Amino acid sequence: MSIDSSFVIALGTAVLLTMAVFIIIFVAYYQQKQAKQQLAFKELQVQHRRDLMAATFRGQEEERKRLAEDMHDGIGTMLSVTKMSLNQLERQAGNDVMLGFQFQKTRSMIDETMTNVRRISRNLVPTTLERFGLLAALEELADRATDKDTEVQLTYPESAIPFPPALDLMLYRITQELVNNAIRHARARHIIIQLFSIDNEVRLSVLDDGVGFDFDVIMENKQGGLGLRNIESRLSVVNGHVTFDVAPGRGSQIHIQVRLYDAQPVDLMS
Ligand SMILES: Nc1ncnc2c1ncn2[C@@H]1O[C@H](COP(=O)(O)OP(=O)(O)OP(=O)(O)O)[C@@H](O)[C@H]1O
Ligand SMILES: [Mg+2]
Repeated sequence: MSIDSSFVIALGTAVLLTMAVFIIIFVAYYQQKQAKQQLAFKELQVQHRRDLMAATFRGQEEERKRLAEDMHDGIGTMLSVTKMSLNQLERQAGNDVMLGFQFQKTRSMIDETMTNVRRISRNLVPTTLERFGLLAALEELADRATDKDTEVQLTYPESAIPFPPALDLMLYRITQELVNNAIRHARARHIIIQLFSIDNEVRLSVLDDGVGFDFDVIMENKQGGLGLRNIESRLSVVNGHVTFDVAPGRGSQIHIQVRLYDAQPVDLMS
């Protein structure tokens, strides 16, 4: 073989090798770019789902506010007027004992309905939360839920830091659901609400000494309630976590974790 032809072969090989290296670099670069695009697209999808969820909860709060106003201003006012008119009738009816007894009974039914309307509208819109913050609202919730069968206790550190309002509302709604569950399903004698924040993270736990439940069985039941599922959806908006430390035959411990910087930019207020 002449020097010329071996030079041409060497040159050809070098050119082919260089081309192969370029092709490999190009393919690797292209694949990396595609992977980056896919990641960005996935992040967008997750963000979009979160925005939708946040919008759903904002809508829910708005609807609750409207309902509470309608109940308070419409039904509440009508009941007050009805009671006044009943009192007037009673005065006109004179001293008939039987009639007096009937009036008394009707009045206490109206009173009971008024109390119920007030209770329902208070539950729909947590005015204490808006006016005095999360701790005051949780104290009120614990007080109201305490009765002769069940004691609800709230514990929190001395130096509780204020959370963003959207997080306050979310934590309040979650506690409301968990305490309601413990009262309705657990037949608990003691319920403890624990709130604390460490290292930029909020932790909320609701513990009860009731009958407990099988989490997997409950979650598999498609006809079941919405409360626990709603907690998961609410938390997904702020990247939060819920842990169910529950089992049949023993009390339930449900723990919530949210990082403050994840909750900061979320708008959940109506
Ligand atoms: N603290 C608890 N103790 C015992 N069982 C519970 C407790 N919390 C929930 N459960 C069980 O889990 C089920 C699902 O609870 P979830 O809050 O999702 O729905 P619900 O309370 O039945 O209805 P909803 O919350 O939609 O009004 C309950 O029906 C109950 O059987
Ligand atoms: Mg429930």
